Parts: sequence; C-alpha cells; structure tokens
Amino acid sequence: MSPVIAIDGPSGTGKGTLAALIARHLGWHLLDSGAIYRALGLAAERRGLSLDNPSSLQPLAETLPLRFDSGKVLLAGEDVSEAIRSEAAGMAASRVAAHTSVRAALLQWQRCMACEPGLVADGRDMGSVVFPHAALKIFLDASPGIRAERRYKQLMAKGLDANLPQLVADIRERDARDRSRSAAPLRAAEDAVLVDSTDMSIAEVFDRVLEEVRRVFPELVV
Ligand code: DC
Repeated sequence: MSPVIAIDGPSGTGKGTLAALIARHLGWHLLDSGAIYRALGLAAERRGLSLDNPSSLQPLAETLPLRFDSGKVLLAGEDVSEAIRSEAAGMAASRVAAHTSVRAALLQWQRCMACEPGLVADGRDMGSVVFPHAALKIFLDASPGIRAERRYKQLMAKGLDANLPQLVADIRERDARDRSRSAAPLRAAEDAVLVDSTDMSIAEVFDRVLEEVRRVFPELVV
C-alpha cells in the first residue's frame, strides 16, 4: 500500500488547511473525508431522506456519484464545493456519519484513494479506522472557544452572517455527537502524535508536523 499520513481531529483545528499544505508540499494526494460525509448529507437532504435512517442512507452512500477534481467536489457532476461548507451541511454530515452501515459503505471508497506517491488523509477516523497502518498519524486539537473564533472569522471574511455564541454551541454539539457515537468515534489513535493548535499559527503547526514527516520518512527531501 502507498504511504499514508492521517490527520484527525475535531473541526476548526486547522486540520483541512494543514492537510492541504502538507499534501502540496510533498506532492501527495489529498483526501478530505469530511467532504464525503458533507456531500452525502446534502444528497440525502435533496432527496428528502431522513438523516437519522441508515436503511435509506446506506444505498445512497454505496452509489454516491461523488468525485474530487482539481480541488473541487463534484456531486453528479455539479460543483458543490461551496454548498457543502455551510454550518447546516456540517451538522447534516455529522448526523449521517453516525451510522455504522453508512461508514462501512464509504470505507473502501476512501481506501482506494491511497495511491502513489502517497496520501494525506484528513478526517476523524483516518488513523483509527480507515488507515490503521498509516506511517504517520497526527491528532490535531484546539479549545472549542478558539475553534469557534476561527470559524467566526472565516464566515465574516466571506461576508456571511455569524453569531459567535451560536458557533460555540454548534461546535460543542457536533463534538459531542462525533465523540460519543458508537461507530468510529472521534478519538486519537494510540500511536498518534498529539498537536494542540490552540496557541499556534497555521505556519507553526505546519513546521511542527513537517518535523514528524522528516522523522517518519527520512528518505523524503522535505
Ligand atoms: O471535517 P468536517 O467538518 O468537514 O466533517 C464534517 C462531519 O463529518 C463531522 O462533524 C463528522 C463527520 N466526519 C466523520 O464522521 N468522519 C470523518 N472521517 C470525517 C468527517
């Protein structure tokens, strides 16, 4: 199997940005697994399916017409990259992701993304379930307050409405569901390197993770 770097952690830790930077730096492929759950939530809502009913979500997950192309997320050929980034889409993703059969349906799809020269995989269970043999596992965390603040700034920068106390409440609700579900709960793999980004800039996190990349892949010139 091609080498894998798994980057897990709750939302708002800078995980997605970090994974994209590391993948670009190494020239490796990138898997944004959250985007799969977000696209599935969107597809389910558009079809009027209940997000809490795995028996109708599982067949949809098995046949989801999803493709990543040049940084875009295409659902049945439609560019949904922006549509899946809303807070509502994040909540819907967290709900569909709680079902064991849905996660099982998406497992092989995700594993197929590991190809040469290597894959940087970003999510909640990359190191614990999807790629348990990943050569390097990073678990990125940050306090809920700072994560909500970062999200608030992102939304404001996009000219979107944002309410900080509501964002803190949403983050706590999503964390609680992602951590307490029985199917692949959000947790650090035993052999993961823990990085707390609460007081770190993205550049500092990148340098810290690059140190680990050099340690694990000394043959790579990075
Ligand atoms: O990383 P994100 O915010 O795009 O993820 C959205 C939701 O999808 C998150 O609340 C939980 C779920 N998710 C998951 O269960 N497993 C993953 N590997 C990635 C995301």
